[in-house]
Amino acid sequence: MRLTTRQFLQTAGLFAAGLLLAACGKKEAPPAPAAATPAPAAAPAKVVVVGTDAAYAPFESQNEKGEIVGLTIDVVNAVAKKAGVEVKFVNTPWEGIFNALGQGDRDMIASSVTITDERKQTMDFTDPYFDAVQLIAVKEGSKIAKFDDLKKAKVGVQTGTTGDEAVTKLLGKTSTSIKRFESTPLALKELEAGGVDAVVADNGVVINYVANNPGAKFKTVSDKAFAPEQYGFAVKKGNAELLGKLNKGLAEIKADGTYNTIYAKYFGAAPPAAAAPASAASK
Ligand code: ARG
Repeated sequence: MRLTTRQFLQTAGLFAAGLLLAACGKKEAPPAPAAATPAPAAAPAKVVVVGTDAAYAPFESQNEKGEIVGLTIDVVNAVAKKAGVEVKFVNTPWEGIFNALGQGDRDMIASSVTITDERKQTMDFTDPYFDAVQLIAVKEGSKIAKFDDLKKAKVGVQTGTTGDEAVTKLLGKTSTSIKRFESTPLALKELEAGGVDAVVADNGVVINYVANNPGAKFKTVSDKAFAPEQYGFAVKKGNAELLGKLNKGLAEIKADGTYNTIYAKYFGAAPPAAAAPASAASK
């Protein structure tokens, strides 16, 4: 097993502490012992471990072969190629995904993560790679016609998402009408089963689900009350090195048409206004 730089440093740190203790009372430090772990100089460039909640088609999901695929994945791979970094995707439950980043278990989160001011306090974001907005899914015959109508409804959301935040704001923190699910597809299945009256989630995912599950007989309801959102890649706060590489790669794929090609692969056309999300704006 290859150790990450961090693991190596931790191991080396413990080892050094042991040495210090052992060296106590001696006049000279002993010669450096042969490390039990491979020397960092000999290790190949560090693989960037990317956490993603792969239950979010068409952005990140698992295909029949268990491979992690989608727009986010294609964008990360294209960016990594430009940046000259090696990436490895690890399916990571949404709940706890940001902790995994904070603890260093993941170097980067690429999971349709909306850039928000609150999240910016605990992690750093790249420039945006996708524009999104919340969308309401209801059964075809539903009377729910606007966001405000959800006040009288049972609403399903994926825990801790911006959809959860929007619904919590409308219904109140203590509302018992909000049903929180571990994944967005689970919330949508519950809507199909009649356990909730509506689901609020990112537009791309809702549209994709409705299109691929005609038997569910859903329709969508949009509302201007939802603030525009932008997806970014998150890195650990202060990881300026990785952030810089990612932003540079992202700018390159937006400039040379790679981004638009990826977008068209999933959405059948170039992004609205025929341009990738502008770099500056973020919520
Ligand atoms: N964009 C929303 C957010 O950041 C939902 C993202 C959920 N992503 C996922 N792979 N489940 O809160």
